[in-house]
Amino acid sequence: MNNYQYYKKAIKGQALPLAYIDLDKFDANVEAIRKRAGDKPIRIASKSVRCQAMLRRILDSNAQYQGIMCYSAREAAWLASQGFDDLLVAYPTLQAQDIWAVLEQVAKGKRIYLMTDSAEQLKHLNAVAAAQQQQLPIFVDLDMSSRWSFLHFGVHRSGIWNEATLGAYLSALQKHSNLQLVGAMGYEAQIAGLGDQAKGKALLNRAIRAFQARSRKEVAKRRATLVAQIKQVVPGLQIVNAGGTGSLESSREEEAVTEVTAGSGFYAPTLFDAYSRFQHQPAAGFAIEIVRQPQPHLYTCLGGGYVASGAIGKEKAPEPTWPQGAKLTNNEMAGEVQTPVEYKGSEKLALGDPIFLRHCKAGELCEHFQQLQLIQGGQIVEAVPTYRGEGMCFL
Ligand SMILES: Cc1ncc(COP(=O)(O)O)c(C=O)c1O
Repeated sequence: MNNYQYYKKAIKGQALPLAYIDLDKFDANVEAIRKRAGDKPIRIASKSVRCQAMLRRILDSNAQYQGIMCYSAREAAWLASQGFDDLLVAYPTLQAQDIWAVLEQVAKGKRIYLMTDSAEQLKHLNAVAAAQQQQLPIFVDLDMSSRWSFLHFGVHRSGIWNEATLGAYLSALQKHSNLQLVGAMGYEAQIAGLGDQAKGKALLNRAIRAFQARSRKEVAKRRATLVAQIKQVVPGLQIVNAGGTGSLESSREEEAVTEVTAGSGFYAPTLFDAYSRFQHQPAAGFAIEIVRQPQPHLYTCLGGGYVASGAIGKEKAPEPTWPQGAKLTNNEMAGEVQTPVEYKGSEKLALGDPIFLRHCKAGELCEHFQQLQLIQGGQIVEAVPTYRGEGMCFL
């Protein structure tokens, strides 16, 4: 049985559109990522999962999985209320209600850490914590993009990237007695989030590989220096978090790093097909229904326009995966309510049949579906709610 037949049979009788996780592939990814992390504990990037049941499945799989990297303070407070602990909020927030919600959970003994990278944020967080007469655990975000004279290789996030900017942050920190610096995080997006094996881009791939090799060395050296500088002020610094799915092989090797992060690799969306260092299995996908056939090889489906965030490009569209050889049309791509799919293969397709696609990114798929159908051994074994399905929409 080919993949199309396999998944078609597995979801037979279900309402479309639906999103699914192939648990056999998902579990294989969980194990492969654990091995790729070497002996470093792994924090799960929740933005790339967005489903409590899947977060729990990863955490329960092995003790090497420890803690969650959240994308919103409100999300962290909610996860804490659901029984999760050790929650690092990776992006700064100034929303007082969200900080109060976090403080409420911290007062109950939960470990939640808020992200900071500037004197203004410190002042704000300290004022909110002081008003509640509480101590607030925080992290500092070290910018790990490589700032070369000819290229800014990486993303634009934290303003702390060298000893001078870190020094200014650390002296501002001294003024705030309600904040407790627990850890440092540095995300080398230019290695972790940038594939070096994109189809049809041989020259660019070669350049990316060369830049990544150079950046890896630069990042390791700078991170070690910056962490040592923090430890002069905070000798008990507990956590140094680094990396993502695409950088596990290098992040794990850094002595200054105490834990690595991974998220996208569990679902393995199309963005993560383009790495030379690893290959995870396409565990997540969605099915849309063929509702009309305007021409012999054109099958128009209802829905499907789940386009990923980030720099706009064709690669941000979902990719028809099964039947093999199916593709989007250039003029319409994946539409808001209608997606024509061109297919000239041997599979007999009829109205009512599904077309299976994969999203470009991992967790964003869950924003379009209330449930994930869990497939194992060729059949649906359970349906679990996404964050959206639980009425939660954080960003
Ligand atoms: C701070 C941070 N760490 C790690 C990651 C890696 O996540 P993933 O493994 O899903 O690529 C990201 C992704 O954007 C991130 O923003």
